[in-house]
Amino acid sequence: MAGILTKIVSMVPPVLKKKLRRFVYNRYANIIVKHNSKVRFMNLGCTSTEKLALLDKDEPYRFHFQMYNELLKGVDVNGKNVLEAGCGFGSGGYFLVNYYKPDIVTGIDLSDKNIVRCKKLYDFPNLKFFRMDAEDMEFENESFDVIVNLESSHGYPARDTKFCNEVIRLLKPGGYFAYGDLLVESDFKSFADALINAGMAKISERDITESVLSARQEILLDLNKKPFWMPVSIAKDFMVTTDSNTYKSMADGKFPFKLFVFRKRG
Ligand SMILES: C[S@@+](CC[C@H](N)C(=O)[O-])C[C@H]1O[C@@H](n2cnc3c(N)ncnc32)[C@H](O)[C@@H]1O
Repeated sequence: MAGILTKIVSMVPPVLKKKLRRFVYNRYANIIVKHNSKVRFMNLGCTSTEKLALLDKDEPYRFHFQMYNELLKGVDVNGKNVLEAGCGFGSGGYFLVNYYKPDIVTGIDLSDKNIVRCKKLYDFPNLKFFRMDAEDMEFENESFDVIVNLESSHGYPARDTKFCNEVIRLLKPGGYFAYGDLLVESDFKSFADALINAGMAKISERDITESVLSARQEILLDLNKKPFWMPVSIAKDFMVTTDSNTYKSMADGKFPFKLFVFRKRG
């Protein structure tokens, strides 16, 4: 989510911001369920030079799986205990347990409705879902080898403080943080600085804006159809259609989409 909606949200006090975000995502999940929609991801998707091998049933979601695949490049997930903070409908966790070989994947999300949908969609012994706030998670210190966070942090009121502290607290020494989002450059910088000051090393940083924009050209949406309940101009920004302000800002370089890998110093 970016553009107009982000501007509106930035004017709301932090305490209300989280409630508003939870309301919006709960409402979205309700409508997806009510209309029996096939929507399984909420990330923007990206094109890729790699031909990712997918099961036939997963092909319709190729761009979104590719986003996770790009995010996880250079991160060793085999046999690991993985946390996804901001798991949406749980499809990143599904991808991990079916296409990689983690020991266990735990997805958490602010929206209780999303967690209900995660559990309905994906029933695997090594995939668990909980409703939690990424800025205040109920896990023991050093519980995870890998933390994944994709297109979720843009709405965290205390990304550089509370969320940063949670990532450091929950990762084992040597653990990886695979992070991707759509932010203005100064916000990426302050979050990366906060992580580095708190004990992480930056392993990689990639700007994938072009491949995200290419995917948006391919993903055809009819915003006049359900489940889009909001005014069409806001829905366009939310979904980053090719004629939206957000798309324009991304193409102009104001809103890059970046992927990072950080590693907690041992
Ligand atoms: C754009 S969706 C991306 C979901 C998923 N990563 C994907 O790629 O499909 C952002 C998700 O972050 C969740 N979220 C927002 N703020 C959160 C918070 N403070 N803690 C946990 N999840 C949060 C939302 O409920 C939503 O499911």
